[in-house]
Formats: sequence, C-alpha cells, structure tokens
Amino acid sequence: MPSKPSTSLGSRRQFLKTSAAFGAGVTFLPSTIIRGADAPSNKLNIALIGTWGRGAAHFGVLKKENVVALCDIDENHLEFGAKTFPNAQKYVDWRKALDQKGLDAVVCCTTDHTHAFISNWALNRNLHVYCEKPLGNCVHEVRVVREHWLKKKGKLATQVGTQRHAIPNFNRVREMVIDGAIGELTDVYAWGNRKIPRPGYLPAQGDPPKHLHYDLWIGPSPMHPYNPGYFAGGPGANCLSWNMFWDFGTGQIGDMGSHVMDLAWNAIDVKLPTSASATGEPFNKDVVPVRMTSSFEFPANDWHGPIKLSWYMGGDMPRSPQGYVDLNKVGHGVMFKGKEGFLVADFASRVLLPYGRNADMAYYKPRSKDKVLPDLGGFQEQWIEACKDPSKKTACDFEYSGNAIETMLLGLIAYRVGKKFKYDGAAGKVLDCPEAQALIARQYRDGWTLDG
Ligand SMILES: NC(=O)c1ccc[n+]([C@@H]2O[C@H](COP(=O)([O-])OP(=O)(O)OC[C@H]3O[C@@H](n4cnc5c(N)ncnc54)[C@H](O)[C@@H]3O)[C@@H](O)[C@H]2O)c1
Repeated sequence: MPSKPSTSLGSRRQFLKTSAAFGAGVTFLPSTIIRGADAPSNKLNIALIGTWGRGAAHFGVLKKENVVALCDIDENHLEFGAKTFPNAQKYVDWRKALDQKGLDAVVCCTTDHTHAFISNWALNRNLHVYCEKPLGNCVHEVRVVREHWLKKKGKLATQVGTQRHAIPNFNRVREMVIDGAIGELTDVYAWGNRKIPRPGYLPAQGDPPKHLHYDLWIGPSPMHPYNPGYFAGGPGANCLSWNMFWDFGTGQIGDMGSHVMDLAWNAIDVKLPTSASATGEPFNKDVVPVRMTSSFEFPANDWHGPIKLSWYMGGDMPRSPQGYVDLNKVGHGVMFKGKEGFLVADFASRVLLPYGRNADMAYYKPRSKDKVLPDLGGFQEQWIEACKDPSKKTACDFEYSGNAIETMLLGLIAYRVGKKFKYDGAAGKVLDCPEAQALIARQYRDGWTLDG
C-alpha cells in the first residue's frame, strides 16, 4: 500500500496560483483573468475514479481540463473512459492512482462504501475533491472527512455530487422560507418514494469475469461472495444493484435522500441535530430498510426557533396539510411548516399554502429583484473554478453536505437501535444510548485504512 504523503501543497498547484498572481502584484485575480482562454498551464490535472456509469456524466466538464489518471476496478469500464481520455494513465487500484505525480484534483464516482476513503486519501495528498454523494457510509467516515477538509478549507475545494442544487428552485425555496412566506419555521418534512426491496446479500454465483477486480470492488468492506447481480444495472443506475446492502451503501438515505435533504438543508441553516429517532420495517442485518421514518431536533438559530426535521421513505409519508393537497403525487419532496402556512416543493417547483386565521400574508414581502439569490451556474464548473481559486465557495462542500448526510445516517442508527437518543454534534457522541454509539463507525477488512 502506498505510504502517506507529506502535507505540503503540490508544487504545480502552487505554480497555478503564484503564476496567476505574478505580474499583477496581488494574491488572487478574478478567474477570468487568471486562466485566459484555455492556457494549458491553467488546466487542472485530474484523476477520475470510476470511469463509467456516473463517471461518464462528468466527461463533458472534465474534457476541458487534463484528465491524467483513470481508475476503475472493471477493465472494460477503464477502456470506456480511455476512449474519451486516451492520454491518461490507467489504474485498477485507486490507492495507486492517487499517488500519480502532478495531480491537482480527484473526481470520485465509485461505490458509496469507498467514497470517504478516496476523499480522505485525496485530502491527505492535498488534492481538491469532487465526490459523488453520499460522502460516507457511516457517521464516523463523514466526520473524519469533514474535519479533515475544514483544516484545509480555503486551500482545497470540495463538492459533493448533489448537482440538482444548481436548479434555481433551490434558491427560490430558500428565499421564501427565510423571508417568512410561511411565518416562523417550525417543522420540515422530506420524503422519497423509491423502493428497492432485497431479501439479503446475493448468493455466490460463478467467478468474477477476468476484467473485474472483485476483491478491489469489495475494498474495505467485509468480503461477500461474487454474484453478477451486483453489476447488472445500466450506466448511471448500477448503484441500485448494490446500494441497498449495508456493506456497500445506505439505501435511499445516501441515494435520493442526499438530493432531497439538500433541498431542505439549503433552506434551514442548521448544523447537526441534538437528537435522532426512527421507526420502520423490521430490521434486516443484510439490507437497509425500504420503509422508514426518522426525525431530528435542531436548536434555534438567528432566524428560527428550535425545529424538527423528519425524513420519510419507501411509502412512509408526512400528513397532508389539506385534503386537496396530495403529497403522494410528489415522488421526492419537502414540506416546510411555519406558524402561518406550508411550502411544498420538489426539485424544480414549489407551492405555497398560507394556513390559519392569521395567514393574511401581511408578514411577508417578496424580495426585490436585485436581492434575489443569483443562479449557481454549472455545478461541476463551480468546483473547477474553486480548485483554481480555492477562496471561492462551492455550494455543497464537505461541511455543508457532511452535516446533512451525518444527520441522515444518525437516523439509520436510531432505526437500528429502535430508540430516540440525544446527540452531541460537536463531539460526535451519542449521550444516552451506548448501543447507538457502537454503530457510529464500521469495521474494515484487514489492510484497509481510512487514513492512508
Ligand atoms: N449525482 C447523481 O445524480 C448520481 C446519479 C447516479 C449515481 N450517483 C452516485 O455515483 C456513484 C456511482 O454510481 P453508479 O451507478 O455509476 O455505480 P457503478 O456501480 O456503475 O460504479 C461506477 C463506476 O465505478 C467503478 N468502481 C466501483 N468501485 C470502484 C473502486 N473501488 N475503484 C474504482 N472504480 C470503481 C465501477 O466499475 C463503475 O465503472 C454512487 O455513489 C452513486 O450514489 C450519483
């Protein structure tokens, strides 16, 4: 296994920054001036890990940079990536890819159970990271990666792959909630209706084909026998073949839950909950539940009092605020409840329902055109820009998205222990339920470390 590198920033990246500043006598210039039109020295050297499926969704943006390393545990998928990036060095083991000299950044599109590993190893090598959602498979992994990045914030750019965040509706929802369209916020209900029931891990079936490095696919998780069913899905949807199994994914929590919670999270300005509770279908030691409801309490902030946030999935749903509003028609949505009404939203649209005797809307003034939140633009492009000038913000950095997924993962723990517990987010400690504390981290196979 490659040794842990030194923590000094890569010399080439320093060159990108210092050469930008040179001649102008300032530390940072606007990116348009820094980069010029396609100047080769202004392109990032990127490693793409996972070169098919979701990985291919990034080809268009990555083609404008230098993709110098490709890594996939499936050699056929590696060849697929190499058709677009013929000059890149090829790897089947991401640990080796991350040690390629001269890298600036990594795009990680692998299975969920390797995300925190790849992200953390990349941060150890002072590489910018774009990681597909979710950031980790358990609370501990998310906390490690988030804390690591916070130490390097301002030097390294991170983004978690919840690209729907760039849909203008995300900003419109935020504006309506924080500007008081529903009065003071009290509750948030988010849900997803996707159901992928599985009885248990797939039984042993045949040997892995030669092009597939199955042991590397299992990676840090406990070994499970090979079955082609884990690889049977189409491009960009194969995650549905493995994400319901505890050792590989977190079901709809890490899948659509990441996107839906982003829509909620963007509008509520919270960090970590003070409690978690959950109920759902009977526990299956192999499979993440299809049907579950989890709830979290958050303290007051500077614009709302204490709030309760709930996540419903697999058929569980919040109660409709009015008979004529059929929430079941919204497959993946969020409902914000305030003292004067409700706002129901999906990714691209929203409906306002003033409610109660005082809901005369006199308390709400839509913001003027010049105060409307600006469009995010391209989501992947926002990360690329921040890699070139890390003083720039990304919308879904490892703090913002880390907090959201840590909360969701606490819900899975509450479901497993069947109890409500109190949580100290600063310390990452469950305060009153040792069984829940024991589920904060997961065990890795020998030879695999999160901090390499
Ligand atoms: N942002 C989105 O809208 C979106 C959409 C689909 C999937 N995703 C996410 O993208 C990720 C990949 O999903 P997918 O459906 O493409 O899955 P997949 O199983 O097809 O995997 C993607 C690629 O990664 C490779 N791979 C798997 N493990 C690897 C490893 N350890 N090292 C190197 N390569 C590895 C696979 O061979 C494949 O080529 C998942 O985490 C999923 O949650 C995000």
